[in-house]
Amino acid sequence: MIHPLELGVNIDHIATLRQARGTPYPDLMEAMRLVEEAGAQAITIHLREDRRHIQDKDVYDIKRLCTKRINLEIAATEEMVRIACDVVPQDICLVPEKREEVTTEGGLDVIHHFARIQDCTQRLLAGGMRVSLFIEPDLEHIRRVPDIGAPVIELHTGTYANAKGDAQLRELERIQKAAELADSLGIRVNAGHGLDYQNTVAIAQIPEMRELNIGHAMVARAIFVGIRQATVEMLALMQSARARQ
Ligand code: PXP
Repeated sequence: MIHPLELGVNIDHIATLRQARGTPYPDLMEAMRLVEEAGAQAITIHLREDRRHIQDKDVYDIKRLCTKRINLEIAATEEMVRIACDVVPQDICLVPEKREEVTTEGGLDVIHHFARIQDCTQRLLAGGMRVSLFIEPDLEHIRRVPDIGAPVIELHTGTYANAKGDAQLRELERIQKAAELADSLGIRVNAGHGLDYQNTVAIAQIPEMRELNIGHAMVARAIFVGIRQATVEMLALMQSARARQ
């Protein structure tokens, strides 16, 4: 079955620019408003342990002012589960996090960290949030998701985005197979990481795909055309990719 495809715009790097100088601008709330106006279905933010971009206050401000769905990405830690249970965004995405990484590197290891991820997932579900697990397009990992109890996964597309030629096609095939399996298990399938105005087309064409979370490439595009137009362009690209399935 072909599902409607939604866009979550990750606005972390608007905050990166603000934090670089400790200025009050660029205003994250204005960026959020423009993204909403452009028609994106969700606002995605990652509250990192080191608070390198999004700050705690941003999370609460977004909760207060956002008119769309909020997708809060967090590491599976006590501190983050506590904040999430206080804010209660509609969606939570559990991601692995290492302080020294430039950006999220790879998906959660739901096999080795099964108990911790299951515990966090159950607490977040009990707090009224929909929980997504950011995982590799790996069939063995996907088969463990129903036992953890998360209703959603976000497939890591970073390897696909960085690969070229045949290697990229092989990775695309892994993502397609992973999406098919997850969908057949009744899991909602999202994807994200490293997606841009070229490589998003093939991912948007995967019929089981429900939502793409895209940040860096869109904020980079926004330097030239503004975040509203960058969002309009990505939504149009996703829709036309869907129409050409
Ligand atoms: N999805 C997840 C789980 C992420 O951690 C990130 C980066 O914060 C993204 C999507 C967006 O990735 P990018 O900025 O490369 O588009």
